[in-house]
Amino acid sequence: MVQETHIGAANLIFPLFIVDGKNKKTEVASMPGIYRYSVDNLLHEVEACAKLGLMSFDLFPNIDDSLKDKYATESHRDGSLYLRAISEVKKHFPEVCVVTDVAMDPYSSDGHDGLVENGEILNDETLEILGKMALAHAHAGADIIAPSDMMDGRVGYIRKVLDEHKFTHVSIMSYTAKYASAFYGPFRDALNSAPKHGDKKTYQMNPANQQEALIEARLDEHEGADFLMVKPALAYLDVIKLIKDNTDLPVAAYNVSGEYAMVKASAQRGWLDERRTTVEVLTSIRRAGATAILTYHAKEVLEKGWI
Ligand code: PBG
Repeated sequence: MVQETHIGAANLIFPLFIVDGKNKKTEVASMPGIYRYSVDNLLHEVEACAKLGLMSFDLFPNIDDSLKDKYATESHRDGSLYLRAISEVKKHFPEVCVVTDVAMDPYSSDGHDGLVENGEILNDETLEILGKMALAHAHAGADIIAPSDMMDGRVGYIRKVLDEHKFTHVSIMSYTAKYASAFYGPFRDALNSAPKHGDKKTYQMNPANQQEALIEARLDEHEGADFLMVKPALAYLDVIKLIKDNTDLPVAAYNVSGEYAMVKASAQRGWLDERRTTVEVLTSIRRAGATAILTYHAKEVLEKGWI
């Protein structure tokens, strides 16, 4: 009667990794219970999740090195693995919500989210590529475009491109406060997308900063974002709360791969009670103010009846 915070399937977005081929399902070594699926198996997974009431998915592609280049051209090529995955999911399950990731890193031979020239990230030149990517996702059927690249001005740029092509109904979930975090390690293993040189500190935020998140939030709101996301989540509950208190937009949080791996690794050793820890993590993210939680635990908590 007096419990203030509840989590339900409607609050959860399940990130799914995709790989080329047929009948593939390979576990990510640093993320027990999480797999890379070929498109046929992706459809089975989406169906199984939908039966549990889990209706929102964020897709990420593992791209063969031979398809990567400086300009991430594979990211908007007609017939690419990622675009096929989006349209197949929407064709078979029109009622599910497909969130798509906009950033160059899975397709870039430099492994960066933006275009690299002489070791520098070119912000404005990157926007053009992100715009093409977002448009290709919208054409394939994406419901929500989620730019995770952290270039300045990309929300406004993508909004304009989508509107000009009559995709006014496609929403933008902006990675508003995305920190240069060590917690992304297992995700980069899953996609084989680690930067080939340097780090992401010139575009992702300094983990020591809180006020800066408000600048990012105001910019994204002004540029037309429909959701503001904080990432990582568990280590940044203060930032979730700060943004929640300063916007009327829905706030999302990404309980990232390293946060998942910590719980799984301790549970495997019997050092933590997995059920209680997982529910406590998700509850704390909701309590801080996130209405949408991207989490690798999404299917498991519903399947096992933990929430
Ligand atoms: C990259 C991207 C990353 C994640 C989502 N999109 C990693 C990075 O910025 O290097 C991380 C997700 C996770 O760790 O679960 N555009």
